[in-house]
Amino acid sequence: MKTLLKILGALLLLLALVGAGGYAWAKMKSDAVMAQTFDAHTVDFPVPFPLDEAEATAEGLTPQQAGEVAMSRAVERGDHLVHTRYVCVACHGSDFGGGVMIDDPMIGHFLGPNITAGAGGRTSGFGPADWDRIVRHGIKPDGHPAVMPSEDFRLMSDQELSDIIAYIRSRPTVDDTVPPPAPGPLGRVLIATGQIRVSADVIGDHFSAHLAEPPTSEVSEAFGQHLAGVCTGCHNARLSGGPVPGGDPSWPPAANLTAHQEGLAAWTFEDFAATLRSGRRPDGTELRDPMSGVVQFTGRMTDVELEALWTYIRTVPPLPTGG
Ligand code: HEC
Ligand code: HEC
Repeated sequence: MKTLLKILGALLLLLALVGAGGYAWAKMKSDAVMAQTFDAHTVDFPVPFPLDEAEATAEGLTPQQAGEVAMSRAVERGDHLVHTRYVCVACHGSDFGGGVMIDDPMIGHFLGPNITAGAGGRTSGFGPADWDRIVRHGIKPDGHPAVMPSEDFRLMSDQELSDIIAYIRSRPTVDDTVPPPAPGPLGRVLIATGQIRVSADVIGDHFSAHLAEPPTSEVSEAFGQHLAGVCTGCHNARLSGGPVPGGDPSWPPAANLTAHQEGLAAWTFEDFAATLRSGRRPDGTELRDPMSGVVQFTGRMTDVELEALWTYIRTVPPLPTGG
């Protein structure tokens, strides 16, 4: 009996040592991931994008009036983009003063910082190049990787980013300081083992030029593909679904959106649009987290956007789930 207890004791001690050693390794390794620095190109673009000269002339606008019209259109487009397509408000709050991405004791506290130019805000003094690096590359001003899913934004055009900046700057500034990201024990293990990868690493290429303007907003495959850029982070580049990379382990796998029988083979455009607006599938079942959250944004998409998205989705090759 005594021997058995001794063996059990030794085993427990060993487990504790391995656990502590594993954690120390995960901490060291995850700190090293976050301490990397990344280099990226320096871009420039106007905020707001100016009006087409022919249009300004045809309407007989003075340069100042043309500037005002350009700004009000940019702000209007930016408003739609931050609430619908690029969902900045989901993590940074509806006033951009701060919000929550993940707040979990095991995975970590990853809060969206204040991105206004107020006290504690991160963007005072930001020019287009700084916005480009953080939003489309996931790189902070000091070169360190950000824990923000920038791979979803890498297809964003200069004009869209410019519109987003114009809109954020048009809102009142907020004075608030949000604590920096703090990974929890499970978060550290996931980062250390490469199951959560920082966007700067996923994106990889930080020197290719971006699209200057988005494809025309119309029901076309090109516009649909552009819109689908924000779906691929979870549903994968081929839209065949499967486990969400780096997602919360409690999430269901992302659905297969291709026309395969395991996917949306039997769906019509009406089914698709109704699901993305109501959060309920054609059979009446409710979409679960995180898609239930995504629906709050897709629900605000225009008919043209939803139809373009569907047009594109119907052109991707049917694949089994995760294929
Ligand atoms: C899924 C959540 C999420 C979404 C969506 C999101 N962000 Fe972020 N963002 C974060 C988090 C978390 C951080 C903090 C990153 C860090 O410090 O590592 C951050 C950081 C930032 C920063 C500050 C970087 C710095 O200098 O510290 C800016 C600016 C920013 N985001 C802009 C945007 C814009 C613009 C959009 C929409 C196009 C957007 N974000 C969408 C989560 C998000
Ligand atoms: C944050 C991750 C995430 C993003 C971003 C995302 N989805 Fe999803 N989506 C999921 C998950 C997970 C499911 C499965 C939900 C369930 O099983 O209840 C899903 C389910 C769906 C479904 C239901 C299909 C079915 O057969 O049940 C549709 C349609 C869909 N997504 C379309 C989209 C489109 C279009 C976009 C981009 C505009 C998008 N999703 C963006 C994670 C995501």
